[in-house]
Amino acid sequence: MKRVYFLLAFSTLGMSTYGQKTIDQKVAELLAKMTLEEKVGQMVQYSGFEYATGPQQSNSAAVLEEIKKGKVGSMLNVAGSEETRAFQKLAMQSRLKIPLLFGQDVIHGYRTTFPVNLGQAASWDLGMIEKSERIAATEAAAYGIHWTFAPMVDIARDPRWGRVMEGSGEDTYLGTKIGLARIKGFQGRGLGSLDAVMACAKHFAAYGAAVGGRDYNSVDMSLRQLNETYLPPFKAAAEAGVATFMNSFNDINGIPATANQYIQRDLLKGKWNYKGFVVSDWGSIGEMIPHGYARDANEAAEKAIQGGSDMDMESRVYMAQLPKLVKEGKVDAKLVDDATGRILTRKFEMGLFDDPYRFSNEKRQKEQTDNRENRKFGREFGSKSIVLLKNQGNILPLSKTVKTVALIGPFAKETVANHGFWSIAFKDDNQRIVSQFDGIKNQLDKNSTLMYAKGCNVDDQDKSQFSEAVETAKKADVVIMTLGEGHAMSGEAKSRSNIGFTGVQEDLLKEIAKTGKPIILMVNAGRPLIFNWASDNIPAIMYTWWLGTEAGNSIADVLFGTVNPGGKLPMSFPRTEGQIPVYYNHFNTGRPAKNNTDRNYVSAYIDLDNDPKYPFGYGLSYTDFKYSDMILSSVNLTGNQTLNISVTVSNTGKYDGEEVVQLYIRDLFGKVVRPVKELKGFQKIFIKKGESKKVDFKLTPEELKFFDEDLNFDWESGEFDIMIGTHSQNVQTKRINWVK
Ligand code: GLC
Repeated sequence: MKRVYFLLAFSTLGMSTYGQKTIDQKVAELLAKMTLEEKVGQMVQYSGFEYATGPQQSNSAAVLEEIKKGKVGSMLNVAGSEETRAFQKLAMQSRLKIPLLFGQDVIHGYRTTFPVNLGQAASWDLGMIEKSERIAATEAAAYGIHWTFAPMVDIARDPRWGRVMEGSGEDTYLGTKIGLARIKGFQGRGLGSLDAVMACAKHFAAYGAAVGGRDYNSVDMSLRQLNETYLPPFKAAAEAGVATFMNSFNDINGIPATANQYIQRDLLKGKWNYKGFVVSDWGSIGEMIPHGYARDANEAAEKAIQGGSDMDMESRVYMAQLPKLVKEGKVDAKLVDDATGRILTRKFEMGLFDDPYRFSNEKRQKEQTDNRENRKFGREFGSKSIVLLKNQGNILPLSKTVKTVALIGPFAKETVANHGFWSIAFKDDNQRIVSQFDGIKNQLDKNSTLMYAKGCNVDDQDKSQFSEAVETAKKADVVIMTLGEGHAMSGEAKSRSNIGFTGVQEDLLKEIAKTGKPIILMVNAGRPLIFNWASDNIPAIMYTWWLGTEAGNSIADVLFGTVNPGGKLPMSFPRTEGQIPVYYNHFNTGRPAKNNTDRNYVSAYIDLDNDPKYPFGYGLSYTDFKYSDMILSSVNLTGNQTLNISVTVSNTGKYDGEEVVQLYIRDLFGKVVRPVKELKGFQKIFIKKGESKKVDFKLTPEELKFFDEDLNFDWESGEFDIMIGTHSQNVQTKRINWVK
């Protein structure tokens, strides 16, 4: 018995039972055999040739030759069991037969796509978010993919930035929790499982704070702000064992992230003791030349490797420059060994040295092509991501027997648009994605009539289709308008200076409103949009983001009340672009506005109300929730006590439903100023109509900690407001005193 136990213990210590060598030993042995060029080869990643996710400079023949020579460590944008097998065969022709890693942007689903990530965040459902990544990983791994460039954990407070659609919004606590759920979903039972992929925390770091919301623009902030708001999701990802990091295009306080020793060496590989590897973003090493931080490719390579970038995605600088830099003694060979070692470690963990083709499996791929269970989950996840912004006169939910419905707008019959921006295109997409029109038609009673008019295009000044749309609306009992921004108008390099409905969509809406028909507006977007006229004049508004493969069904489920919407906004919605940035966890200033319209010598705009159009955490339901009996275990605490908080939530309406109960705190006085609110907990609960639930939270001093001006992370004695509510502007407050 003892011997068996010993072997089991041995194997659980990460020792391989094969050859009794640890991965570290195998890596060391392999490194000892490798030439300098072969080591640098592992630090090189090229994109496949079918499509590029960056400014491609590929010369496919040369790349194939490089692979055969063992001078390529990874390919991205190569997927499919057949395609990956073909590339892997080339790598097996190299001297040491080191397998390739295949990476892909599996951002919100793979074959089955899910809501864009900001929409997913609106579900506040960590379990569904994790499950969606579990499904995405299973499907992607079945297509031969080893590594996804996700989760994107960039906190973002500026909706002009198109990549807010890929993240979890403005709040660090919510963004951290969601990032961890995604990593757990992607990596599942652990690297090496055939249904797990390596995750990648990106974009390291503070990419979401680009000045003006302009993609790739500079980031400049105090290290205190950087550590308090933007780095926590990355630190949590590193601690959770995320397999890789990807750095960001932007400079941070004057130094491009790609060469930024503070974040990549001092923090990530130093203080956080991170053992995975960092891949550059597409071309970002070479882009240090236009940044003005490197005179040429040689200097860019030197600064990038010194700065902690292990793999060069598509800038082609490392292969060209690093061997020379090491031979000239300008770069320590140990840095190359360290980077290569980190990359090889992941390849061993993925089991690729045991079998380079283990993920390239036709049978598994077939099983994961349009898996019905995955689509069913996608439909549910889509419904849970919808945010009900307005429902005046309870016009929603609609009855399925409503006589005549008119669906009007440029997105009504769209299919691929529902995929959102970061989805992998498949040839059969048009057939397999449920349009909004089809989703509604699927559920309307057979004696009802669904009419359609496009009304206008997404983004031009053509009003020639208005009259047809108005005539269609006049014949209907209820009109559903589907408007917003094009699905490819948010995403990478999609910053917008005007974030209203594009083209003449709002003019169309106003024309339809003149008919006097009841209107339900669905807003399709990957970011917060500005639509004040609609908000003030249309009785029912749902934010439907882009919901993925089952979009039409998800939307219909909410429209007809099969699902009672429970989504909550993960970002504040500004009234105008001039109000940006507007976010809930701001500082109070010395002259805070007393209310939404106070402009008398206070921090406000003289021409605009102070609050956002829709606040962080906001979302309605078809039912009503009442909060009562907020109870604290104490109002005077000392030291490491735990504060127990409870509240009773009652469903006083006509429908069963889900509510996201939010817990905020405010540290009233600090050695640095503190936000007026900080999210420190949330619970998504289901309550049947007429029933109540007691919801409990716990707070400890850990949740009170913050970074001071010397970057000490600690808490202070003092008064705190404890707030619980249905959104950031609708809370009950109790004050406590906590002495250290
Ligand atoms: C892109 C994106 C990054 C993506 C990478 C590979 O430029 O910035 O998020 O993972 O290139 O497609």
